[in-house]
Amino acid sequence: MVEDLRLDSLEGVGPVTTRKLSDAGIHNVMDLIVRGPVDIAAITGMEKDTAEKIVNKARQHLVEGGLIAKDFVSATEIYKHRQSIGKISTGTNCLDTLFDGGIETQALTEVYGEFGCGKTQFAHTLSVMVQKPKEEGGLDGGVLYIDTENTFRPERIVTIAKCHDMDPEKVLDRIIVARAYNSAHQILILEEAGAIIEENNIKLIVADSAVGLFRAEYLGRGTLSVRQQKLNHFVHLLSRIAETYNCAALATNQVMASPDVFFGDPIRPVGGNVVAHTSTYRIYFKKSGKKRIARMVDSPHHPEEEVIFALGAAGVVDPEEVDKKTKKTTKKATTKKVKTPKIELTVETPEIATTEEPTVETPEVEATVEPTVETPEIATIEEPLVKEIESDDSESTEASEVEATVEPTVEIKSDDLEPTEE
Ligand SMILES: Nc1ncnc2c1ncn2[C@@H]1O[C@H](COP(=O)(O)OP(=O)(O)OP(=O)(O)O)[C@@H](O)[C@H]1O
Ligand SMILES: [Mg+2]
Repeated sequence: MVEDLRLDSLEGVGPVTTRKLSDAGIHNVMDLIVRGPVDIAAITGMEKDTAEKIVNKARQHLVEGGLIAKDFVSATEIYKHRQSIGKISTGTNCLDTLFDGGIETQALTEVYGEFGCGKTQFAHTLSVMVQKPKEEGGLDGGVLYIDTENTFRPERIVTIAKCHDMDPEKVLDRIIVARAYNSAHQILILEEAGAIIEENNIKLIVADSAVGLFRAEYLGRGTLSVRQQKLNHFVHLLSRIAETYNCAALATNQVMASPDVFFGDPIRPVGGNVVAHTSTYRIYFKKSGKKRIARMVDSPHHPEEEVIFALGAAGVVDPEEVDKKTKKTTKKATTKKVKTPKIELTVETPEIATTEEPTVETPEVEATVEPTVETPEIATIEEPLVKEIESDDSESTEASEVEATVEPTVEIKSDDLEPTEE
């Protein structure tokens, strides 16, 4: 099989072209498909026509070998082919339901969400799960982990592996980590990944985060088109590798609050349309207190639904598992809360207020009591960027309280209007 993929196995590709290609980082027939004729012409200096001919031959070669699909196929053939697509279980019932079994090979799955919502934990969990045998939801494959934010933690892998009764050392051995220092390096890693993927039977490629470095390096509107162009190259490469090498690609992405959105959720993934159009599946992770919500935002065949999951020692976990463990601690927490009714003192104060305007003052008192109960959760917010995002959740509940205080003023207005109508 490996010999079949050698560049010189292609008709018309002699030792000179082979050397030219391998000097440019193209080592086998798969690499030709992944890079495409435009790229190959640019990096080798050969004519575009020649590059196109070579790539077409490579495609024909792989089709004959049954490694990639033909150009024209019947829907039945596609259906049969899709049965062979591998799925990596997430290790949880809830997320497996959302993904209809797990994340797919030959596809790019994008997970976006605010900081601390569990994108990296999800990537770590899948890096362990993919190594499990097929009967247990894995693909018995290795991982290529492109770490752009220095957040890959082998300790987490060890803990997650132990939670799944796997040998942590073996699990660590099968994860190849590539630390990307800048966006050009991030692209280079992927361009040269072909040989590594083959040698290590890689079944999962993680890019955590896919967009971060591009975003940091290309600041301002003037650089936007260059940034999108480079990002486009990276994301397409990732997607083509996933298809050609039959592995799953997982890209994480942060979010930003879009100020021009008045209705619905103003949170948008960073990276604009480039990532959105290339990824096959898009999932939005959202914080909801200690739990997390995952929503399938875009998929060619999944319904748009939401599930609740949680984060724990085993990475992403079913929410029930956290409930079981935290029951004892929450009991303690509630007894602590009973001690706090010092706040009730503020409720008593309106007695003084009632002498002035009792109807207006009371709703305000209700409002002051409720936020004090919610504050412990909001207190976990640390970074200013997410304050904007978090405020969406918290404000939505607070907003309804504010509306309550507004209502009396509306009544007053209606009183004012009545005499004018008469
Ligand atoms: N060992 C652990 N046990 C339980 N929960 C953990 C553990 N380690 C991390 N977490 C949880 O994971 C959260 C961090 O999640 P993660 O790093 O995946 O966020 P992220 O979405 O990647 O954020 P960012 O955008 O900053 O990269 C922590 O806030 C914590 O709740
Ligand atoms: Mg992260």
